[in-house]
Amino acid sequence: MSTYTIEDPRKVTTRRLTEMKQRGEKIAMLTAYDYSMAKLIDEAGMDVILVGDSASNVMAGNTTTLPMTLDQMIYHAKSVVKGVKRALVVVDMPFGTYQGNSKEALASAIRIMKESHGEAVKMEGGSEIRESIERILCAGIPVMGHLGLTPQSINKFGTYAVRAREEAEAQKLIDDALMLQEIGCFAIVLEKIPADLARRVSEQLTIPTIGIGAGHGTDGQVLVMHDMLGINKGFSPRFLRRYADLATVIDDALGNYITDVKTGDFPNDSEQY
Ligand code: KIV
Repeated sequence: MSTYTIEDPRKVTTRRLTEMKQRGEKIAMLTAYDYSMAKLIDEAGMDVILVGDSASNVMAGNTTTLPMTLDQMIYHAKSVVKGVKRALVVVDMPFGTYQGNSKEALASAIRIMKESHGEAVKMEGGSEIRESIERILCAGIPVMGHLGLTPQSINKFGTYAVRAREEAEAQKLIDDALMLQEIGCFAIVLEKIPADLARRVSEQLTIPTIGIGAGHGTDGQVLVMHDMLGINKGFSPRFLRRYADLATVIDDALGNYITDVKTGDFPNDSEQY
């Protein structure tokens, strides 16, 4: 049983996220990639579950999110959706499925919605991908924006360091955030930017901002599940708070199982037919 009590058991919608911002209720978002974890995360009371393309790192073992394909995202999203009753399920559009051509972007978003039954898509970038976002929004598909550190552009940035420290980049981020709101995005992820900038953007927008490494002035927070549960111990940025040490719990359990099998202790008389 979760330590958090769900006060409002109704299904979370994009509209309810705006209402949460209006009444100052923070939005809790976490990634998930499979049915069993999505069920636990939903039952704990998470507001938004992101089927992140971080699956590329934590599920597939890649060093970047770039190799993720549309088919792989749909596979993960389908599994997550089956485990979720209350949370809003947002699915990342993977690299290469929306940047080139807005018709292709719409076709990719439609496949995600039709095949996975996810409820919204997330797209990285601002003015550069405006046409793709607009076309997807026109088809009635809710879009969550993603600004700041956008991991699909890691080869352009060349580093995972904090973004928008310089005035020019900060101003572009503010302009992009206002543009995303104006064309109809329902929320924006702000990744790894100075806390002051994230607070300023959040105060200027009527749609919610969800921060990761962006301080406490955003309207919500998101983390990667494997990082916050301590499964992925090799990743320790300053912004990450670890809520469990599952790597140690799992390692202990595995060691005990191997020992019990090898000593003949498992199975015992009551564990057989
Ligand atoms: O893919 C992902 O997990 C994300 C979050 C880090 C926001 O985009």
